[in-house]
Amino acid sequence: MKSNTEKFGKTPHQPSLWTRADALKVHADDPTTTQPLVSANFPVLSNEVFIWDTMPLRDMDGNITSVDGWSVIFTLTADRHPNDPQYIDENGNYDITRDWNDRHGRAKMYYWFSRTGKDWKLGGRVMAEGVSPTVREWAGTPILLNEQGEVDLYYTAVTPGATIVKVRGRVVTTEHGVSMVGFEKVKPLFEADGKMYQTEAQNPFWGFRDPWPFRDPNDGKLYMLFEGNVAGERGSHKVGKAEIGDVPPGYEDVGNSRFQTACVGIAVARDEDGDDWEMLPPLLTAVGVNDQTERPHFVFQDGKYYLFTISHTFTYADGVIGPDGVYGFVADSLFGPYVPLNGSGLVLGNPSSQPFQTYSHCVMPNGLVTSFIDSVPTDENGTQTRIGGTEAPTVEIKIKGQQTFVVAEYDYGYIPPMLDVTLK
Ligand code: FRU
Repeated sequence: MKSNTEKFGKTPHQPSLWTRADALKVHADDPTTTQPLVSANFPVLSNEVFIWDTMPLRDMDGNITSVDGWSVIFTLTADRHPNDPQYIDENGNYDITRDWNDRHGRAKMYYWFSRTGKDWKLGGRVMAEGVSPTVREWAGTPILLNEQGEVDLYYTAVTPGATIVKVRGRVVTTEHGVSMVGFEKVKPLFEADGKMYQTEAQNPFWGFRDPWPFRDPNDGKLYMLFEGNVAGERGSHKVGKAEIGDVPPGYEDVGNSRFQTACVGIAVARDEDGDDWEMLPPLLTAVGVNDQTERPHFVFQDGKYYLFTISHTFTYADGVIGPDGVYGFVADSLFGPYVPLNGSGLVLGNPSSQPFQTYSHCVMPNGLVTSFIDSVPTDENGTQTRIGGTEAPTVEIKIKGQQTFVVAEYDYGYIPPMLDVTLK
């Protein structure tokens, strides 16, 4: 496997590296980068469905947007099956854990609306059955395009394959609620190419998903972030000096870390509508560090690019470890170089006493961080847990230069608008 320089050449940019040395600085339970404990007494949004990845409606500049006073979120959603014999265990009880763990295979895109930025009401499915070309509708981003209420939903069409797609529809409001109309024609945009981004043929555990389009505040062009893995056959990647970074004596052994090859991908649009995209080399790679950098997104603040991405404990490579949560990197220009926030990259992780309490954090430009509840221990030893499948309490962080600080906590699923658009 080639190094970044051999692989991507000198132009248009060199991916920044999240190194093993950076990751050695990750420490769970630092209160400034740890999500407050989530109580096992949390309320659930719905007894009919599980929700996880939450995608607030926003504009192309990243502002969370309400329409005619209605806040709107999209969520990955799956039915709960409390009465399905398939999920009843040998004692006759509902095995909610198994039902929850199976959810990815039946994920569908739903939307919710609210007058208050919380207490969400279920709107329904965004696309009718049969519209999306694959079994799984995985994460992406809904973009409000204009005052006519047109919405482009970018998402990932998975199984078979993994394709970044978009579907256009419209948001319609009344005094009583919100509906989504249209969303009938799904347009494939691009797939992993095997040269910059790993394909399924190169690695059955590849990741290629989670589109996040945006307008660069500096050059005004349309780009898109996404999750990928660095191209190459599984096991062929090299964890060399650059990937290791400046480690203390005794930390040179990289074990089997060549199998962890996450990256944050970027593409640029060739047109104004975002129908025609060209993939560029990754912005950030984590070869030898972590196998997943999911749902990448930006906050543009103080003239800087704050790049956030979620990752798991179980996807870390041999010899490095960190909590489930959101990690961040900062640069002065879009193509980097990116430096890990707080030295390590960790911005908001789960406390070690409740390692799976939340996931899929989305940092909004107002510093609020939304996530979902995964599972919370209900006894001292953490052997009993309560499955969530619902919105977690919102946390506020302060971003200051290369550091971040947890400063406040709000209600479950609190996602207030940053601006309101009156539809024409
Ligand atoms: C994050 C994630 C996304 C993916 C979805 C699948 O929680 O893994 O990367 O699109 O969940 O359910």
